[in-house]
Order: sequence, then C-alpha cells, then structure tokens
Amino acid sequence: MFEKLWKERAALVEENLQAEIKKTKTIDKKLNEAMEYSLLSGGKRLRPVLLMAAADAVGGDGEKFLPVACAVEMIHTYSLIHDDLPAMDDDDYRHGKLTNHKVFGEAGAILAGDALLTLAFEVMTRQENVEPKILLKVIREISSAAGMAGMVGGQMIDLQSENKKIDLPTLKKMHLGKTGALFKAAIRSGAILAGTDEEKLFALTDYAENFGLAFQITDDILDVVGDEKKIGKPVGSDEKNHKSTYVTLTSLDISKVLAAEAANTAVHSLNVFGSEADFLRELVKFLIDRKA
Ligand code: IPE
Ligand code: IPE
Ligand code: MG
Ligand code: MG
Ligand code: MG
Repeated sequence: MFEKLWKERAALVEENLQAEIKKTKTIDKKLNEAMEYSLLSGGKRLRPVLLMAAADAVGGDGEKFLPVACAVEMIHTYSLIHDDLPAMDDDDYRHGKLTNHKVFGEAGAILAGDALLTLAFEVMTRQENVEPKILLKVIREISSAAGMAGMVGGQMIDLQSENKKIDLPTLKKMHLGKTGALFKAAIRSGAILAGTDEEKLFALTDYAENFGLAFQITDDILDVVGDEKKIGKPVGSDEKNHKSTYVTLTSLDISKVLAAEAANTAVHSLNVFGSEADFLRELVKFLIDRKA
C-alpha cells in the first residue's frame, strides 16, 4: 500500500519535472540536455514525495503542491551533480549512468547545476492556489535549507572533514546540514502549504531531522556494503576520499544501531498523528533497510 503510493507519486513527479522544465525557454540546447540528463535519470524522488506526504498528514492534498515539490527535486539534483564533480567527491557514476561531468565536461556540469538551482526558484513561483504570504514563507524555508545554513554548509563541513578525525557532534551537524536540511525543508513546506497548525509542524520537524539522520547514516553504510548495481553509484567513494562518516567514526554495527534509533525517534515524533501519517512512519522504516 505504502510502496504503491510512493510509486504513484514518484511517477507524478517524473511527469511534472519534464513539464516544468519545458515551460522555460532555453537559449542553449546543450545546457538543457545536461540539465535533463541528470534530472530525468531516475532518482527515488524522496524529497517531493515527502513534501506531498506531509501535506496529506496535516489534512491537505499533497498533489496540489507539485510545482514546489518538483522544485525541491531540482535543487537536490543540482546538489548531486556538484557533489560528484572532481573537486568534490570525484565520482563517475550516478543512477547507473556516467555522472554529468563525464558526459558534459566539468564546466557543463557546473552550469547545469547552477541552472537547475535557479530554475527551481522560478518553478516555485508557479505554485498556484496558495496565498502569496504562505508561498513566500515556503520559499524562505527552502532557500535557507539549500544554502549556508543547510545543504551547502554541510557539504563544506564534509569537504573540510576529509583526512581528519572529527567528533560525533560535528559529524551529526554535517549530516543534518548536507542531507537533513533539504528533507526538513521539503517536509515543513508540504505542511505549511497545506495549512498546518504549530503542534503538527513541530512534530513533523522532529520527524524530518531524525529521518535525515537515519537516511544519511544508511547512505554511509551503503557506501561500504552496498551493491553498486543496486545503488547506481560507486561503492567505496567515502573511503577513496578519506571522508568522515558514521562508519569510519563508529563501526558498521554501531552505525546500523544509530540509524535504527534515529528511525524510531522519527516514528515516535509522529505520535500526535493518527493513520494519516502512516506513510511517513512506513517510509522511514523502509529506508533504513534499503539496498539502493
Ligand atoms: C543521495 O540522495 C544523496 C544523499 C543526500 C545521501 P538520494 O539517495 O535521495 O538520491 P536519489 O534517490 O538518487 O535521487
Ligand atoms: C552528499 O552526500 C549529500 C549531498 C548534498 C549531495 P554523499 O556525498 O554521501 O552523497 P552520495 O553518496 O554521493 O550520493
Ligand atoms: Mg559528498
Ligand atoms: Mg558523494
Ligand atoms: Mg554517500
């Protein structure tokens, strides 16, 4: 049931990503090609699916917010294109295909990322049926999460933590930034767009932080024990780059326990909800056992 809804919603996102990108005229076909190459290469579409699920959980209809949901996926895709660059993680495969810079060159990949990030903000302004004040609040939420207070800040900590031993609080801060912030913004935005009350927003924020942590710890684990064919990206990337991860700072077993703990805390955060939050409960449990 929950996997069916996830698939349906991901398919909706897929369609809308194509539609949204076509609404903006390009003055260079190659740039468009590079953007679509990564955007339409088949990720799990978790962030838009979470945005919609949070809207559902507070009594709204998630599918009304596809423009903002797709915009968050565009920001996510840009972050992956840049994350794979030689200056960052220097990885050759993503979603089972050559990474963007391997096909379009480093400059092409940098520009495709830049253009996806800016397109995201254009697409957010296309969201209808929401009061401008609410949409502004959501745009502030997402822009703050994507930048120095969130994803980019976390990526900077990640790069500065190569080749050295950092402490667990710093690692947690890095994970909450580079991965957690965008999840949190997606979830909070879905709830805010659907007109949440403060108590539910607080609970969803707690869920989101723990979701992000559980998700990135599991990503660190998969970087060691994953199957390259399933995860579609190189196994051993973190070791190659001498990264600080949950696995290197603790151990594989402790990381699994910590991921499960964060997932449990996420589920507990949802106690103020009834069955309308079941999708969110199931999703976090599913993701810590994922293979891809
Ligand atoms: C990968 O995120 C980057 C991290 C934040 C760990 P996802 O696993 O959600 O990426 P997709 O599904 O390939 O888009
Ligand atoms: C990157 O974390 C998170 C981003 C902001 C893209 P990772 O570097 O661990 O992500 P993967 O493993 O390459 O997907
Ligand atoms: Mg990285
Ligand atoms: Mg990486
Ligand atoms: Mg990783």
